[in-house]
Amino acid sequence: MYKYHCLNPISGVGLEQFTEDYVPVSDAKAADAVLVRSTSMHEMELGPDLKAIGRAGAGVNNIPLERCSENGVVVFNTPGANANGVKELVIAGMLLASRDIIGGINWVQENEEDGNIAKDAEKAKKAFAGCELDGKKLGVIGLGAIGVLVANAATHLGMEVYGYDPYVSVDSAWRLSRSIRHAKTVDEIYKDCDYITIHVPALDSTKGMIDADALNLMKKGIVVLNFARDVLVDEEAMIDALLSGHVKHYVTDFPTPAMAGVKGAIVIPHLGASTEESEDNCAKMAVKQIRNYLEHGNITNA
Ligand code: MLT
Repeated sequence: MYKYHCLNPISGVGLEQFTEDYVPVSDAKAADAVLVRSTSMHEMELGPDLKAIGRAGAGVNNIPLERCSENGVVVFNTPGANANGVKELVIAGMLLASRDIIGGINWVQENEEDGNIAKDAEKAKKAFAGCELDGKKLGVIGLGAIGVLVANAATHLGMEVYGYDPYVSVDSAWRLSRSIRHAKTVDEIYKDCDYITIHVPALDSTKGMIDADALNLMKKGIVVLNFARDVLVDEEAMIDALLSGHVKHYVTDFPTPAMAGVKGAIVIPHLGASTEESEDNCAKMAVKQIRNYLEHGNITNA
């Protein structure tokens, strides 16, 4: 009999995969296994029986990895399980940055009571005119599960897609996505693209990678999308670039007080993986990994 604890908000999602051999406990310290989504575990005590943590998502920056290693606690993540959900929001982000959908909706709401919509329709068409994605260059930095899905989807929208990933060979990335052209250096992406989307993990080597120097290499009017992690972007440099108009839009899934309300910033409250399907896939995968480990000692990443 194993005891497991779910830290909110994944309770209930896909957990039917735990059977009568598992009992839920309300205290993480009493558990054999903990399932967690985005809640930080850094300040949490790891209980004496804890053997495994299942992170229902790709990033593991909310898990105290060093303490887990010291205590022999195996940490699983669920790479790819929410990739489709994130991909769809990245595409939505590109569309939001290209067509003033939000401005148009707000205008309708503000004007509908006065009955001015029909009268001012021509004005609105001009005020909220945008541009198309077709034919534009997209740079995808990081060709993991999400990056490759974004690249493929963008190709279907007619974009010219350039990919960069120092750890993925041109051949293997080509097998994953036949539509990506491969940039040899990240600077090529910075210099040539109209849209840049980042899909790399938060590591010491990637923190702050989009800094003032990187932004200066980019074209004026660039759209930068960050659905990976906030720390990848130097926030101060990004705010300066937005205020000067060098960056047209920064679409980020990581809200911070400093970025809220900045001209050109499109800030979303970390919703990339917030779909029924992604949540269910992640929870099921995490449960399967934990069961496999506790019952058979197998460490699997699928
Ligand atoms: C991830 O790392 O995959 C995301 O943070 C998932 C989530 O939103 O929970």
